[in-house]
Amino acid sequence: MEVVPLASADEVAALGADVVEAAVRAGGAVLGLATGSTPLPTYRELIRRYDAGLGPSYDGVRCFTLDEYVGLPAGHPESYRATIARELTDPLGIPADRVQGPSPELAGLPTAGARYEEALVAAGGVDVQILGIGSDGHLAFNEPGSSLASLTRLKTLTEETRRDNARFFGSIDEVPRHVLTQGLGTILRARHLLLLATGAAKAAALAAAVEGPVSASCPASVLQLHPHVTVLCDGPAETGLTRRDHYREVYDAKPAWQGL
Ligand code: PGA
Repeated sequence: MEVVPLASADEVAALGADVVEAAVRAGGAVLGLATGSTPLPTYRELIRRYDAGLGPSYDGVRCFTLDEYVGLPAGHPESYRATIARELTDPLGIPADRVQGPSPELAGLPTAGARYEEALVAAGGVDVQILGIGSDGHLAFNEPGSSLASLTRLKTLTEETRRDNARFFGSIDEVPRHVLTQGLGTILRARHLLLLATGAAKAAALAAAVEGPVSASCPASVLQLHPHVTVLCDGPAETGLTRRDHYREVYDAKPAWQGL
């Protein structure tokens, strides 16, 4: 795992955008997209560069979201399909039929997870998976206790996560209880995992994920099992990391040819 302590959330966004653009420039990229607040500055940076004519063409790109609420009316603005279209893929000109998420229709729920896994495999797997981390250590909607080998399936949100996400809805009562989410095993299949963590509210969870034991009690600790993980964090998010001086030394001494 490579931890890159950066001075600000803007630097996280700029480097995050560099990683995504490099994958797109390499051709035919399959991007794994996270929702939530953390990736938004990275998405805005990608859009800014694209609009300025500095970004790559997104013509051949396919996208898969990590998760989706169950029980929202189709087209609800807080559904992750609608959110990712609004915040990233529409502005980048990526057509809706190249953006897929787990399908939350009630009639198909029992098979929705398996169908999503098949779609990911059929696309050749995810090249770069953008990830945030929950304040309780969750990854996608894999809450503490989730199997480290899990695949896409229906899950129930914790009160903490529903409270965290109430800001996107009118109140906590409007936050769905159920979701479909890629499993931790699904996420591990992506070729490059890019975890973004900004703000003091993530410091404890990030420290547990990076330096704590691998445990289902901190789902994001599963990242320690993946051969290519990049963690981009800002000052407030890195405060719990005991080895942060070392991470900075490693990054400063990194040969340019290695990339991220
Ligand atoms: P946030 O959510 O980016 O909105 O903080 C991260 C997450 O819950 O995974």
